[in-house]
Amino acid sequence: APVAAVIPAAGRGVRLGPGAPKALRALNGTPMLIHAVHSLAASRHVSLVVVVAPADGPTEVKSLLDAHALPERTDFVVVPGGESRQESVALGLAAVPPEYGVVLVHDAARPLVPVDTVDAVIEAVRAGAPAVVPALPLTDTVKEVEPATEPGAPEPVVATPERARLRAVQTPQGFDRATLVRAHETVTEDVTDDASMVEQLGLPVVTVPGHEEAFKVTRPLDLVLAEAVLARRRL
Ligand code: C5P
Repeated sequence: APVAAVIPAAGRGVRLGPGAPKALRALNGTPMLIHAVHSLAASRHVSLVVVVAPADGPTEVKSLLDAHALPERTDFVVVPGGESRQESVALGLAAVPPEYGVVLVHDAARPLVPVDTVDAVIEAVRAGAPAVVPALPLTDTVKEVEPATEPGAPEPVVATPERARLRAVQTPQGFDRATLVRAHETVTEDVTDDASMVEQLGLPVVTVPGHEEAFKVTRPLDLVLAEAVLARRRL
């Protein structure tokens, strides 16, 4: 089945500090979104990229994509995003024609994901998994707390899940198209990743190995790290 990639890029990026929408901020002179689109289009299996742009920015995003040529085999479309990431993904998914049996959802905020990670996700979906997530073991121990009402106040620790059983998950997350469509039709509460919607349908979600360079650019230090990774790649 042909593979389409939906790239939600409609977030403001508040945690990154003041400035342009996050996906349009430059990494070594090129907008983060362009890096992300090229990272997905680097897979020879991906033949359509749907970019979900800030609601006021589809025209700007379209001209950016026109200026940074994609491989010949890859089509792209740009659609305006929504209030939440979930809504943005649903709007992107609605723009994927039915012949695309496999859909990847990839954060614009993970611009440097290696092509081997993208291909591993696609391969696992094609092998029959309805949902696939790239995952890495944690280095930090994680505590569950009772969240404080004022920022900075001490928070009581409730539990410490066994670290060896926890994974940090990344994107692209890969899906059987019909399953992801059904998840969006069925699940109404807010989620922080797409695969959890499939979990709520009671269907299996499996992991493949993630990659350190698929980290999410969220805070100012992440920009420094992303530019260092790009500089190292040019060596
Ligand atoms: O906020 P968070 O880091 O989880 O955002 C992940 C991705 O979702 C980013 O690429 C962001 O641009 C996108 N997003 C979106 N529409 C929103 C909010 C976030 O496309 N309303």
